[in-house]
Amino acid sequence: MQQKVEVQICLGSSCFSRGNRETLESIKKHLKENNLEEKVSFKGKLCSNTCSSGPTITVNGIVFKEVRPNTAITLIENALKQIQ
Ligand code: FES
Repeated sequence: MQQKVEVQICLGSSCFSRGNRETLESIKKHLKENNLEEKVSFKGKLCSNTCSSGPTITVNGIVFKEVRPNTAITLIENALKQIQ
């Protein structure tokens, strides 16, 4: 079985309103356009009380802070390189 990259995006109101709304759409679009939905497990998560460092996303268990849409794509692409 192929290993997957695990991505979680904070959908708490602070992160969502500060950028994860756009990042969510960017990631979904990127995964679809590049046929990566089989290789990436992409889920939302609740606020983890690190709002002041938000917007946050988690890639393979590592929390990344102040993530912009382009940064999120780069983080996912880098994680994909490690499983290929
Ligand atoms: S809303 Fe994302 S950490 Fe609180």
